Amino acid sequence: MKLKLVTTATLLSTAILAGCASTNEATPMNTDSKVIIAHRGASGYLPEHTLESKALAFMMGVKYVEQDIAMTRDNRLVVIHDHFLDRVTDVAKKFPKRARKDGRFYVVDFTLDEIRKLDFTEGFEIENGKMVQGYPDRFPMFKSKFKIHTLEEEIEFVQGLNKTLGLDIGLYVETKAPWFHKQEGKDISKAALEVLKKYGYTTKDSNVIFQTFDYPDLVYVKTELMPKMGMDLKTVMLLGYNSWNETFEFVDGQWQPYDFEYLLNTDNFGEISKYADGLGPSYEMLFDLEKTTKDHIVVNDLVAKAHENGMIVHPYTIRKDKLPDYVSTVDELYKAVLIDADADGVFTDFPDLGVKFLNNYKK
Ligand code: G3P
Ligand code: CA
Repeated sequence: MKLKLVTTATLLSTAILAGCASTNEATPMNTDSKVIIAHRGASGYLPEHTLESKALAFMMGVKYVEQDIAMTRDNRLVVIHDHFLDRVTDVAKKFPKRARKDGRFYVVDFTLDEIRKLDFTEGFEIENGKMVQGYPDRFPMFKSKFKIHTLEEEIEFVQGLNKTLGLDIGLYVETKAPWFHKQEGKDISKAALEVLKKYGYTTKDSNVIFQTFDYPDLVYVKTELMPKMGMDLKTVMLLGYNSWNETFEFVDGQWQPYDFEYLLNTDNFGEISKYADGLGPSYEMLFDLEKTTKDHIVVNDLVAKAHENGMIVHPYTIRKDKLPDYVSTVDELYKAVLIDADADGVFTDFPDLGVKFLNNYKK
Protein backbone atom coordinates (compact mmCIF):
# COMPACT_ATOMS: atom_id res chain seq x y z
CA MET A 1 0.00 0.00 0.00
CA LYS A 2 1.20 3.47 -0.78
CA LEU A 3 2.23 5.87 1.96
CA LYS A 4 -0.86 8.05 1.63
CA LEU A 5 -4.15 7.27 0.01
CA VAL A 6 -5.01 9.88 -2.59
CA THR A 7 -8.38 11.19 -1.54
CA THR A 8 -10.93 12.77 -3.82
CA ALA A 9 -10.30 16.03 -1.98
CA THR A 10 -6.58 15.79 -2.68
CA LEU A 11 -7.16 15.09 -6.36
CA LEU A 12 -9.61 17.96 -6.62
CA SER A 13 -7.34 20.38 -4.85
CA THR A 14 -4.29 19.37 -6.88
CA ALA A 15 -6.27 19.67 -10.10
CA ILE A 16 -7.43 23.13 -9.10
CA LEU A 17 -3.99 24.20 -7.97
CA ALA A 18 -1.92 22.92 -10.87
CA GLY A 19 -1.00 25.94 -12.93
CA CYS A 20 -2.77 28.39 -10.62
CA ALA A 21 -1.11 31.31 -8.94
CA SER A 22 -2.40 30.66 -5.44
CA THR A 23 -4.99 28.82 -3.37
CA ASN A 24 -8.53 30.00 -2.79
CA GLU A 25 -8.25 31.51 0.70
CA ALA A 26 -12.01 31.08 1.23
CA THR A 27 -11.65 27.28 1.35
CA PRO A 28 -8.51 26.48 3.30
CA MET A 29 -6.95 23.10 2.67
CA ASN A 30 -7.01 20.45 5.39
CA THR A 31 -3.38 20.31 6.46
CA ASP A 32 -3.71 17.69 9.21
CA SER A 33 -1.73 15.05 7.32
CA LYS A 34 1.12 17.37 6.31
CA VAL A 35 4.42 16.73 8.05
CA ILE A 36 7.44 18.76 9.05
CA ILE A 37 10.76 16.95 8.73
CA ALA A 38 13.73 18.18 10.75
CA HIS A 39 16.42 18.52 8.07
CA ARG A 40 19.65 17.22 9.64
CA GLY A 41 17.90 17.92 12.98
CA ALA A 42 16.98 21.45 14.01
CA SER A 43 20.05 22.44 12.02
CA GLY A 44 19.15 26.12 11.82
CA TYR A 45 19.88 26.34 15.56
CA LEU A 46 22.53 23.73 16.37
CA PRO A 47 25.24 22.11 14.23
CA GLU A 48 23.65 19.71 11.73
CA HIS A 49 23.27 16.06 12.61
CA THR A 50 24.42 16.43 16.22
CA LEU A 51 22.31 14.51 18.72
CA GLU A 52 21.66 17.88 20.35
CA SER A 53 20.05 19.15 17.12
CA LYS A 54 17.85 16.04 17.04
CA ALA A 55 16.76 16.55 20.65
CA LEU A 56 15.83 20.14 19.90
CA ALA A 57 13.78 19.02 16.88
CA PHE A 58 11.89 16.59 19.13
CA MET A 59 10.59 19.53 21.14
CA MET A 60 9.40 21.37 18.03
CA GLY A 61 6.54 19.09 16.98
CA VAL A 62 8.12 17.42 13.96
CA LYS A 63 7.00 14.09 12.49
CA TYR A 64 10.46 12.95 11.36
CA VAL A 65 14.11 13.66 12.13
CA GLU A 66 16.52 13.07 9.25
CA GLN A 67 19.69 10.94 9.22
CA ASP A 68 22.20 11.22 6.36
CA ILE A 69 24.73 8.41 6.66
CA ALA A 70 28.18 7.52 5.35
CA MET A 71 30.38 4.47 5.99
CA THR A 72 33.72 4.35 7.79
CA ARG A 73 36.81 2.33 6.83
CA ASP A 74 35.77 -0.28 9.41
CA ASN A 75 32.24 -0.51 7.99
CA ARG A 76 30.37 1.50 10.61
CA LEU A 77 27.60 3.91 9.65
CA VAL A 78 27.99 7.45 10.93
CA VAL A 79 25.43 10.24 10.77
CA ILE A 80 26.90 12.97 8.59
CA HIS A 81 25.68 14.79 5.50
CA ASP A 82 28.76 14.60 3.27
CA HIS A 83 30.88 11.55 2.61
CA PHE A 84 33.69 13.97 3.47
CA LEU A 85 34.66 15.10 6.97
CA ASP A 86 36.21 18.47 6.19
CA ARG A 87 33.15 20.77 6.06
CA VAL A 88 31.91 19.93 9.55
CA THR A 89 34.90 18.78 11.61
CA ASP A 90 38.48 19.66 12.57
CA VAL A 91 39.85 16.70 10.60
CA ALA A 92 42.32 18.90 8.68
CA LYS A 93 43.86 19.97 11.98
CA LYS A 94 43.89 16.56 13.70
CA PHE A 95 44.82 14.40 10.66
CA PRO A 96 46.54 16.85 8.28
CA LYS A 97 48.17 14.15 6.16
CA ARG A 98 45.04 12.10 5.46
CA ALA A 99 43.48 14.08 2.60
CA ARG A 100 43.20 12.49 -0.82
CA LYS A 101 44.70 14.11 -3.92
CA ASP A 102 41.56 16.26 -4.33
CA GLY A 103 42.22 17.79 -0.90
CA ARG A 104 39.15 16.18 0.69
CA PHE A 105 39.09 14.00 3.82
CA TYR A 106 36.82 11.03 3.11
CA VAL A 107 34.77 9.32 5.84
CA VAL A 108 35.63 5.98 4.25
CA ASP A 109 39.37 6.53 4.88
CA PHE A 110 38.90 6.79 8.67
CA THR A 111 37.93 4.27 11.34
CA LEU A 112 35.10 5.02 13.74
CA ASP A 113 37.63 5.41 16.57
CA GLU A 114 39.47 8.07 14.57
CA ILE A 115 36.25 9.86 13.69
CA ARG A 116 35.25 9.92 17.36
CA LYS A 117 38.40 11.98 18.04
CA LEU A 118 37.08 14.80 15.82
CA ASP A 119 35.02 17.77 16.93
CA PHE A 120 31.78 18.30 15.00
CA THR A 121 30.93 21.91 14.18
CA GLU A 122 28.64 24.22 12.29
CA GLY A 123 29.50 23.91 8.58
CA PHE A 124 32.17 26.04 6.94
CA GLU A 125 34.07 26.47 3.68
CA ILE A 126 37.71 27.43 3.23
CA GLU A 127 38.01 30.78 1.47
CA ASN A 128 41.44 32.33 0.89
CA GLY A 129 42.85 29.91 3.45
CA LYS A 130 40.31 30.91 6.11
CA MET A 131 37.30 29.09 7.55
CA VAL A 132 34.11 30.91 6.59
CA GLN A 133 30.86 29.79 8.22
CA GLY A 134 28.27 28.71 5.60
CA TYR A 135 25.36 30.34 7.44
CA PRO A 136 26.90 33.20 9.42
CA ASP A 137 23.91 33.74 11.73
CA ARG A 138 23.81 30.16 12.91
CA PHE A 139 25.56 28.45 15.85
CA PRO A 140 29.18 29.67 16.10
CA MET A 141 31.87 27.44 14.60
CA PHE A 142 33.79 25.19 17.02
CA LYS A 143 31.96 26.50 20.08
CA SER A 144 30.80 24.10 22.79
CA LYS A 145 31.54 20.41 22.12
CA PHE A 146 29.85 18.14 19.59
CA LYS A 147 30.79 14.66 18.38
CA ILE A 148 29.88 12.46 15.42
CA HIS A 149 27.80 9.41 16.34
CA THR A 150 26.73 6.17 14.66
CA LEU A 151 23.35 5.36 13.13
CA GLU A 152 22.80 2.85 15.94
CA GLU A 153 23.41 5.54 18.55
CA GLU A 154 20.98 7.88 16.83
CA ILE A 155 18.28 5.22 16.61
CA GLU A 156 18.69 4.45 20.32
CA PHE A 157 18.50 8.19 21.02
CA VAL A 158 15.31 8.60 18.96
CA GLN A 159 13.69 5.49 20.41
CA GLY A 160 14.68 6.59 23.92
CA LEU A 161 13.24 10.07 23.48
CA ASN A 162 10.07 8.67 21.94
CA LYS A 163 9.72 6.57 25.09
CA THR A 164 10.39 9.30 27.64
CA LEU A 165 8.37 11.98 25.84
CA GLY A 166 5.52 9.65 24.81
CA LEU A 167 6.05 10.52 21.15
CA ASP A 168 6.31 8.54 17.91
CA ILE A 169 8.75 10.52 15.81
CA GLY A 170 10.11 8.70 12.77
CA LEU A 171 13.51 8.20 11.20
CA TYR A 172 14.18 9.48 7.68
CA VAL A 173 17.42 7.76 6.62
CA GLU A 174 19.39 8.79 3.52
CA THR A 175 22.26 6.60 2.36
CA LYS A 176 24.78 9.12 1.04
CA ALA A 177 26.41 8.36 -2.32
CA PRO A 178 25.76 4.60 -2.59
CA TRP A 179 27.60 4.72 -5.94
CA PHE A 180 30.73 6.07 -4.21
CA HIS A 181 30.56 3.44 -1.48
CA LYS A 182 30.25 0.76 -4.19
CA GLN A 183 33.43 2.11 -5.79
CA GLU A 184 35.05 1.62 -2.38
CA GLY A 185 33.78 -1.97 -2.19
CA LYS A 186 31.07 -1.12 0.34
CA ASP A 187 27.30 -1.68 0.22
CA ILE A 188 25.98 1.17 2.34
CA SER A 189 22.32 0.39 1.68
CA LYS A 190 22.70 -3.21 2.84
CA ALA A 191 24.49 -2.02 5.97
CA ALA A 192 21.75 0.56 6.65
CA LEU A 193 18.98 -2.01 6.23
CA GLU A 194 20.81 -4.40 8.58
CA VAL A 195 20.92 -1.74 11.28
CA LEU A 196 17.27 -0.78 10.74
CA LYS A 197 16.21 -4.42 10.90
CA LYS A 198 18.17 -4.93 14.11
CA TYR A 199 16.17 -2.10 15.69
CA GLY A 200 12.81 -3.44 14.51
CA TYR A 201 12.17 -1.42 11.36
CA THR A 202 11.08 -3.98 8.77
CA THR A 203 7.72 -3.07 7.21
CA LYS A 204 5.90 -0.11 5.70
CA ASP A 205 4.22 0.36 9.08
CA SER A 206 7.63 0.94 10.70
CA ASN A 207 8.21 4.59 11.47
CA VAL A 208 11.05 5.12 9.02
CA ILE A 209 11.43 6.34 5.46
CA PHE A 210 14.42 5.18 3.42
CA GLN A 211 15.55 7.90 0.98
CA THR A 212 18.22 8.15 -1.68
CA PHE A 213 19.40 10.25 -4.64
CA ASP A 214 20.64 7.05 -6.32
CA TYR A 215 17.86 5.57 -8.50
CA PRO A 216 19.77 2.48 -9.62
CA ASP A 217 20.50 1.78 -5.96
CA LEU A 218 16.84 2.30 -5.01
CA VAL A 219 15.81 -0.28 -7.62
CA TYR A 220 18.43 -2.65 -6.16
CA VAL A 221 17.18 -1.98 -2.61
CA LYS A 222 13.55 -2.49 -3.57
CA THR A 223 13.88 -5.50 -5.87
CA GLU A 224 16.83 -7.38 -4.36
CA LEU A 225 17.96 -6.27 -0.91
CA MET A 226 14.68 -5.74 0.92
CA PRO A 227 13.00 -8.92 -0.39
CA LYS A 228 16.12 -10.95 0.48
CA MET A 229 16.19 -9.45 3.98
CA GLY A 230 12.44 -9.89 4.55
CA MET A 231 11.95 -6.12 4.66
CA ASP A 232 9.65 -3.69 2.90
CA LEU A 233 10.20 -0.14 4.16
CA LYS A 234 8.66 3.06 2.79
CA THR A 235 10.99 4.66 0.27
CA VAL A 236 11.44 8.15 -1.12
CA MET A 237 13.34 8.90 -4.34
CA LEU A 238 15.19 12.21 -4.10
CA LEU A 239 15.25 14.32 -7.25
CA GLY A 240 18.32 16.38 -8.08
CA TYR A 241 19.75 18.40 -10.94
CA ASN A 242 22.47 17.00 -13.20
CA SER A 243 24.67 20.01 -12.47
CA TRP A 244 25.04 18.85 -8.84
CA ASN A 245 26.86 15.63 -9.90
CA GLU A 246 25.01 13.99 -7.03
CA THR A 247 24.92 10.46 -8.44
CA PHE A 248 26.91 8.25 -10.80
CA GLU A 249 25.90 4.95 -12.37
CA PHE A 250 27.90 2.06 -13.78
CA VAL A 251 27.12 1.86 -17.51
CA ASP A 252 29.07 0.15 -20.29
CA GLY A 253 31.87 -0.76 -17.92
CA GLN A 254 32.40 2.71 -16.48
CA TRP A 255 31.02 5.13 -13.91
CA GLN A 256 29.07 7.97 -15.56
CA PRO A 257 27.05 10.87 -14.17
CA TYR A 258 23.43 9.82 -13.62
CA ASP A 259 20.93 11.69 -15.81
CA PHE A 260 18.09 13.01 -13.59
CA GLU A 261 15.98 13.93 -16.65
CA TYR A 262 14.29 10.53 -16.45
CA LEU A 263 13.17 11.11 -12.86
CA LEU A 264 12.04 14.68 -13.51
CA ASN A 265 9.78 13.63 -16.39
CA THR A 266 6.30 13.17 -14.90
CA ASP A 267 5.47 10.62 -17.63
CA ASN A 268 7.82 8.24 -15.79
CA PHE A 269 6.16 8.62 -12.38
CA GLY A 270 4.11 5.44 -12.88
CA GLU A 271 7.28 3.41 -13.35
CA ILE A 272 9.11 5.19 -10.53
CA SER A 273 6.19 4.49 -8.18
CA LYS A 274 6.97 0.76 -8.45
CA TYR A 275 10.05 1.49 -6.35
CA ALA A 276 9.22 4.66 -4.44
CA ASP A 277 6.36 5.53 -2.09
CA GLY A 278 7.25 9.17 -2.50
CA LEU A 279 9.41 11.78 -4.17
CA GLY A 280 11.80 14.27 -2.59
CA PRO A 281 12.31 17.12 -5.05
CA SER A 282 14.11 20.35 -4.41
CA TYR A 283 11.23 22.75 -3.67
CA GLU A 284 11.80 24.93 -6.74
CA MET A 285 11.00 21.86 -8.86
CA LEU A 286 7.34 22.36 -7.82
CA PHE A 287 7.08 25.76 -9.48
CA ASP A 288 7.02 27.06 -13.02
CA LEU A 289 10.02 29.31 -12.51
CA GLU A 290 9.53 31.11 -15.84
CA LYS A 291 6.10 32.33 -14.74
CA THR A 292 6.74 32.66 -11.01
CA THR A 293 7.51 36.21 -9.96
CA LYS A 294 7.87 38.01 -6.68
CA ASP A 295 4.90 37.11 -4.46
CA HIS A 296 3.21 35.30 -7.40
CA ILE A 297 3.77 31.54 -7.24
CA VAL A 298 2.85 29.41 -10.25
CA VAL A 299 2.93 25.69 -9.52
CA ASN A 300 3.59 22.98 -12.09
CA ASP A 301 2.09 19.48 -12.19
CA LEU A 302 4.83 17.58 -10.31
CA VAL A 303 2.85 17.08 -7.09
CA ALA A 304 -0.43 16.34 -8.90
CA LYS A 305 1.26 13.71 -11.09
CA ALA A 306 2.97 12.17 -8.06
CA HIS A 307 -0.37 11.98 -6.24
CA GLU A 308 -2.05 10.48 -9.31
CA ASN A 309 0.55 7.74 -9.14
CA GLY A 310 0.03 7.18 -5.41
CA MET A 311 3.26 8.86 -4.31
CA ILE A 312 3.66 11.46 -1.59
CA VAL A 313 5.96 14.48 -2.09
CA HIS A 314 8.38 15.75 0.57
CA PRO A 315 10.45 18.60 -0.94
CA TYR A 316 13.68 19.91 0.56
CA THR A 317 14.86 22.34 2.09
CA ILE A 318 13.26 25.44 3.59
CA ARG A 319 15.74 27.75 5.31
CA LYS A 320 14.71 31.11 6.67
CA ASP A 321 18.25 32.38 6.07
CA LYS A 322 18.28 31.35 2.39
CA LEU A 323 15.01 32.38 0.77
CA PRO A 324 14.48 32.40 -3.00
CA ASP A 325 13.80 35.80 -4.55
CA TYR A 326 10.13 35.01 -5.30
CA VAL A 327 9.11 35.11 -1.61
CA SER A 328 9.54 37.79 1.01
CA THR A 329 9.20 35.68 4.17
CA VAL A 330 9.74 32.09 5.25
CA ASP A 331 5.98 31.75 5.85
CA GLU A 332 5.37 32.58 2.19
CA LEU A 333 7.72 29.77 1.23
CA TYR A 334 6.02 27.25 3.56
CA LYS A 335 2.70 28.33 2.02
CA ALA A 336 4.00 28.04 -1.55
CA VAL A 337 5.30 24.52 -0.92
CA LEU A 338 2.70 23.06 1.46
CA ILE A 339 -0.46 24.86 0.37
CA ASP A 340 -0.08 26.23 -3.16
CA ALA A 341 1.87 23.23 -4.46
CA ASP A 342 0.14 20.82 -2.01
CA ALA A 343 3.29 18.97 -0.95
CA ASP A 344 2.65 16.39 1.78
CA GLY A 345 5.48 17.61 3.96
CA VAL A 346 8.74 19.48 3.82
CA PHE A 347 12.33 19.26 5.02
CA THR A 348 13.34 22.37 6.90
CA ASP A 349 16.32 23.58 8.95
CA PHE A 350 13.84 25.54 11.09
CA PRO A 351 11.24 22.94 12.12
CA ASP A 352 9.64 25.19 14.73
CA LEU A 353 8.76 27.71 12.02
CA GLY A 354 7.26 25.00 9.81
CA VAL A 355 5.13 23.67 12.67
CA LYS A 356 4.08 27.20 13.58
CA PHE A 357 3.11 27.93 9.98
CA LEU A 358 0.88 24.83 9.81
CA ASN A 359 -0.72 25.60 13.19
CA ASN A 360 -1.46 29.19 12.17
CA TYR A 361 -2.79 28.11 8.78
CA LYS A 362 -5.20 25.70 10.50
CA LYS A 363 -6.53 28.53 12.62
O1 G3P B 1 17.19 14.24 1.88
C1 G3P B 1 16.42 15.38 1.70
C2 G3P B 1 17.37 16.49 1.70
O2 G3P B 1 18.13 16.35 2.87
C3 G3P B 1 18.23 16.39 0.48
O3 G3P B 1 19.24 17.28 0.53
O4 G3P B 1 21.65 17.42 0.36
O5 G3P B 1 20.50 18.05 2.47
O6 G3P B 1 20.70 15.68 1.82
P1 G3P B 1 20.57 17.08 1.34
CA1 CA C 1 19.38 14.33 3.18
